[in-house]
Amino acid sequence: MKEQINEIRETAVKQINSCQKTNELTNLKVEYLGKKGKLSLLLKQMGKLPPEERKTVGQLANKVRNELEQNLEQKMAQIKLIEQENKMKSEKIDVTLPGQKFQIGNIHPLSKVMKEINDIFIGMGFSIAEGPEIETDYYNFEALNIPKDHPARDTQDTFYINDNILLRTQTSPVQIRVMEKQKPPIRIISPGRVYRSDSVDATHSPVFHQIEGLVVDKNITMSDLKGTLELFVKKLYGEDSNVKFRPHHFPFTEPSAEMDVMCFSCKGKGCSLCKGEGWIEILGCGMVHPKVLKECNIDPEIYSGFAFGLGLERIVMRRYNIDDLRLFFENDMRFLSQF
Ligand code: DAH
Repeated sequence: MKEQINEIRETAVKQINSCQKTNELTNLKVEYLGKKGKLSLLLKQMGKLPPEERKTVGQLANKVRNELEQNLEQKMAQIKLIEQENKMKSEKIDVTLPGQKFQIGNIHPLSKVMKEINDIFIGMGFSIAEGPEIETDYYNFEALNIPKDHPARDTQDTFYINDNILLRTQTSPVQIRVMEKQKPPIRIISPGRVYRSDSVDATHSPVFHQIEGLVVDKNITMSDLKGTLELFVKKLYGEDSNVKFRPHHFPFTEPSAEMDVMCFSCKGKGCSLCKGEGWIEILGCGMVHPKVLKECNIDPEIYSGFAFGLGLERIVMRRYNIDDLRLFFENDMRFLSQF
């Protein structure tokens, strides 16, 4: 039996020494020293030995067990150290490698021009007012002198949440909201998103942007309107720009007009940009209708005002020669990174 114990010892020591992995080492421990391990199984047969041999065999077995346990422990510490070193080597960071470039975004062309327009009006003493995109029928139509059966509603069909609540079709309702809260003098612009139930194509989108303007004070006349808008256009398109006003109709202004800018590409001769017209329409405007002032408890005998509304997309498209409005909303980086 002593020989058998020595044999077990020898093979165990060899195996432990050549072991490379912690899990293999754990298996070896079970194989030799576990409850059903080789050494234990052998010792179960000790009963068959003559009593005088039992003592020395038992002592040998204990010695071998202790030796193997010690070997296992040492080897385990050794393997763990190697594994840790390998891990550190593989995770090494080369601090001399060039860094990754951080991608900085661009301002969207619509935001860029909107800011430019805002700044021009702020420079003339206007402040910025905001209104909700989900609006009531009253503010979007009724208070602007567009009653339920008015034909102007046909061109401004929109998305209804219910009979009374809708997505605003224009920024003009902000005029009403401002006049309800603030008494003259009033000088505001209101940029924002508006909605109409149009199908998407190169020049239409169910969502687009307008910038509204409103001035109310004593003695405001059509010449204030013309002077202000002319100055605005010269700041936006350059000192040599020309504008003209054409009579038009809007229910909430009287008189009303549309303002055209002389085509900055052909200087009025007619080209593809202005579709041969020589002039490009950029906004609607007029003197605030007395009915609208009265609706907001402002006395039209004392006060008067002018208003205007311009479509942002069209201005930006002309500015950068963009021929398809869908490009603004598709978030294609190849398009956006050009601005
Ligand atoms: N809200 C008008 C539209 O969407 C544009 C407009 C015209 C606004 C005349 C005005 C204005 O303030 O005076 O067609």
